[in-house]
Amino acid sequence: MSVFRTGVLILTSPLSALAVRLAPILASASKIVQDTLYVHFQPGLLLTGPSQPGSTSIPATSEVCSLISRLYSDADSHTHLDIRVLLTNINNQSPQQLPLASVQNLSHPPEVVLTDFQSSDGGQYNPAKQQLERYAANCYSCQPNLASVLLYPDYGSPGELIPSDSAADTTLESYSDVVVGGTFDRLHNAHKILLSVCCLLAETRLLVGMADKELLESKVLKELIEPYEQRVEKLSQFLVDVKPSLLYDVVPICDPYGPSITDPDLKCIVVSEETQRGGLAVNRKRQENELSELAVHEIKLVKDARHAENEEEKISSSSFRNRLLGTLLRPLKVNNSIPAKPYVIGLTGGSGSGKSSIAKRLEDLGAAVIDCDKLGHQCYMPGGPAYEQVINEFGSDILCPDGTIDRKAMGSKVFTDKEQLKKLTDIVWPAIAMLAKKTMEEAASQGISVCVLDAAVLLEAGWNSMVHEVWTVIIPEKEAVTRVMGRDGISEEQAKKRLANQMSSSQRVQLSDVVLCTIWEPDVTQKQVQKAWDLLQQRINQESDRPRNSPVFKSRF
Ligand SMILES: *[C@@H]1O[C@H](CO)[C@@H](O)[C@H](O)[C@H]1NC(C)=O
Ligand SMILES: *[C@@H]1O[C@H](CO)[C@@H](O)[C@H](O)[C@H]1NC(C)=O
Repeated sequence: MSVFRTGVLILTSPLSALAVRLAPILASASKIVQDTLYVHFQPGLLLTGPSQPGSTSIPATSEVCSLISRLYSDADSHTHLDIRVLLTNINNQSPQQLPLASVQNLSHPPEVVLTDFQSSDGGQYNPAKQQLERYAANCYSCQPNLASVLLYPDYGSPGELIPSDSAADTTLESYSDVVVGGTFDRLHNAHKILLSVCCLLAETRLLVGMADKELLESKVLKELIEPYEQRVEKLSQFLVDVKPSLLYDVVPICDPYGPSITDPDLKCIVVSEETQRGGLAVNRKRQENELSELAVHEIKLVKDARHAENEEEKISSSSFRNRLLGTLLRPLKVNNSIPAKPYVIGLTGGSGSGKSSIAKRLEDLGAAVIDCDKLGHQCYMPGGPAYEQVINEFGSDILCPDGTIDRKAMGSKVFTDKEQLKKLTDIVWPAIAMLAKKTMEEAASQGISVCVLDAAVLLEAGWNSMVHEVWTVIIPEKEAVTRVMGRDGISEEQAKKRLANQMSSSQRVQLSDVVLCTIWEPDVTQKQVQKAWDLLQQRINQESDRPRNSPVFKSRF
C-alpha cells in the first residue's frame, strides 16, 4: 500500500459507535499516513448517491469532548502521527445542515483522504471512492492528484456499544472570550486536548498566555525547551487549522497570571486538574481589580502509557524533553576535514555537571577518553609544548625552584585579569589541541573506533571544530552549586561566582548535538548513556555504509 505524508480522515460512523472503533481506525490510518492526519467527525455522512453531500453540524457535548480526548490519547501509541481534529462543524447550536462552506485551508494540504464509510455492496468497485475524493476536494485545500482509501479496520468483536447517557451528555457552555495558559513546549496530544476544549468553549476569541523567561526557570530540563517563537508558531498553526473562525491572541507571560487578571472581556478560564487552584487565584485577583469573575473549566489530565520511572505519569512536556536526552537533537554537520577514524565525541559541561562521571561510563562502554585537563598539565611541564612560551609571556617569577611552572602563581596572575587570561589560553589551548590530535592519531592506529575528548572548555576553545559530535552534560544550577561546594570545599558564594564565569547550560545546549543530564539516580544516568551510545553506534555504522568522499581513482600508466 502507498504511504502518504498528509491525509484527512472523515469519520462517518455514529458518534456512539466511535468510542470503540477509534483505536482500530487510527491503527489502520497510521499505516497509510506518516506525518499529519486531519480528522473530521461527519457522523451519518453518505458518500454514495448522486447528491452533493453537505456537512452536518454536531453539538459540542461532553460526549464529543471525550471522543476528541480519546482520539488524541489513542494517537499517542502512533508517535509519528501529528493528529489534528477539525472542529469547524462542532458548535453549541442545535444540529443543522450547514451551508457548503468555502474550502478550508489546511497548513499541510492532504495527499490522501481516508474514511471509515463502508457502502452496503462492499464490492471491488466502490463508487464511494470518487464521491469521497470530490467531497474532500470541495471541503479542504488538498494536494492535486488526491488519493483516497476506504479503511476496513478490524473492529474485532463488535463489543459493547457504550450507551450514550443522555443525563451525563451535556452540551458545553460557550463564552465569547476564553483564556488558557501553558508552556506549550513540543506541542503534544495532551496540549491538543486542552486546546480543542478551549476552541469549543470559545465563540470569538481565545487568549493564550505562553510561559516565557522567568516562568521557565524552574522547569525540568529547561535548556531543552523550544524557543518562544517556535512554540508560538506551532501552536498558532494548530489552532488555525482546527478552528479558523476564532481570533487567536498568543502573548508571552512571565508570571502565572498574565493578562487573565487584567483583560475585562474574558469570560472563562480553562485549567487542568493541577492548575485548578490557579483558576481560583485568578478570580481572587480579578475581584481585587474589579473585574468580573471567570467561569473555571477543568480538564482531566491524560495518562501516559509510556512514561519511564523518572518521568511524570501524565503526558507532559518534561517527559518529552526527558526522552530527548541521549538522542541526536539536530542533523549532524559533516566536516570532511576531520579524519573519519576515530569517531570523536567532544564532551563538555559546566562545573558540577557530572561530565567526568559520564566520561567514565563511556570509557566502560569502549570509548577511549582523552582528558584535556591532563593534556593541559603536560603542556606546562618542562619540555612541554607551552612551557617556553608561557615563561616568555609571564616571566620566570612563575617558576618553582625545580623549574616547573607554579600553577597557583600562574592562576593568581590571570584569574582576575581577562586580558592576561586570554594571553594564556592563546598559548595553551592550541598546544592542548595539538596533543589531542596526536592522541587521536595514535588511537586510530590502535584500531580504536570512538574517542571522547573530555573538555570543560571545548566550546570556548573552539575544539568543537575538531570533533564529529558535541555532547553536553547539564544539571540545574542549584544542584551544580551544591556539588561544587561539596567537592571543592568552597562557599556557596564562591561556587556561584565560578559558575557565573562559565558558559551557561543553555548556551552549551545551543551548540550541542546530544545532551545528557545527571540529576537523577545513577542507574538512570547509566541508561541515558547506554541509549546515547547505542544510537551513536547506529550512526557510525550508517556513516561507514555511505561513501564518505568521492572515490579516488588512481590514474593508470
Ligand atoms: C485559502 O488560501 C487561498 C490561497 O492562498 C486564498 O485565496 C483563500 O482566500 C483562502 N481561503 C480561506 C477561507 O482562508
Ligand atoms: C573542519 O575541521 C577542520 C579540522 O579540524 C577545522 O579546522 C575546521 O574549522 C572545521 N570546519 C568547521 C566548519 O567546523
